[in-house]
Amino acid sequence: MDNYIAGLFDLSNKVVVITGANGQLGRELVMAYTNAGSIVIGWDLSLPKIEVDNVKYIQVDVSKKEGVIHALEESLKINNKIDVFINNAGVSTFEPFEQRPEEKIDWVMDVNLKGTLFCIQGIVNLVDKLHIPPPNIINIGSFYGVISPDFRIYEDGDRKNSEIYGATKAGVIQMTKYFAVHLAERNIRVNAVSPGGIYNPSSPQSEEFVTKYSFRCPMKRMANVEEITGAILYLSSRAASYTTGQNIIIDGGMSCW
Ligand SMILES: NC(=O)c1ccc[n+]([C@@H]2O[C@H](COP(=O)([O-])OP(=O)(O)OC[C@H]3O[C@@H](n4cnc5c(N)ncnc54)[C@H](O)[C@@H]3O)[C@@H](O)[C@H]2O)c1
Repeated sequence: MDNYIAGLFDLSNKVVVITGANGQLGRELVMAYTNAGSIVIGWDLSLPKIEVDNVKYIQVDVSKKEGVIHALEESLKINNKIDVFINNAGVSTFEPFEQRPEEKIDWVMDVNLKGTLFCIQGIVNLVDKLHIPPPNIINIGSFYGVISPDFRIYEDGDRKNSEIYGATKAGVIQMTKYFAVHLAERNIRVNAVSPGGIYNPSSPQSEEFVTKYSFRCPMKRMANVEEITGAILYLSSRAASYTTGQNIIIDGGMSCW
């Protein structure tokens, strides 16, 4: 029985690429996969100052197609395969909607939507060209790709969640379904995980925001970052071998009402 469960969730020696690996969720994912015995390749704009054992980092801007292709080729040099590819890099913009400049709108679209698309396109083309094993793709969406923010939470704060962020995350969730269908015959599974608000101890949200958010959330609190990783590990394992095109929302029930 022990072996059955261990085998189902075994991620040892899997090559896992994580974009946005130097951010809050990215760092937690790097830790989770190295802990599971995976070979981790972290992509980010800026790399950690301290090297992490068993992790190779590649500096790349996912919104630039040529850079993505180069980073994919570099990643493949490590073990000639990518078993799991996690599109985690994401950005948002927070000024009031009425004053949102076009450059900010382009930036959020370029990173969240085009970045995800370039990574999927690049990896699929390499699978076709080099006949490498099919990767398992996981896109990080957001509960704001499914529901609107309740602006009463954000009333006095300066981190009002933007329409363009939500629109790009809705796009990521839709792309997940599109590619799940389009890539199924290549044996590539594509799923999404959509977190709710994650508490950030190293750059904490204001006490007032946390109180308002908690009041609005059925589970009465924000997520801790380690509560997001389980679903991502599950989707990348054999336990999810018949799961594709799904979006697992991890938001303490916030999107249920
Ligand atoms: N934190 C939350 O409450 C929350 C909630 C829902 C969804 N999400 C999503 O989770 C993912 C991770 O978020 P996070 O909270 O860790 O954010 P974060 O800002 O801490 O980390 C994002 C990382 O992405 C990197 N990045 C940004 N632009 C990039 C680019 N062009 N190319 C490569 N890397 C780039 C950044 O350098 C950063 O290290 C994002 O997609 C985000 O939208 C976060």
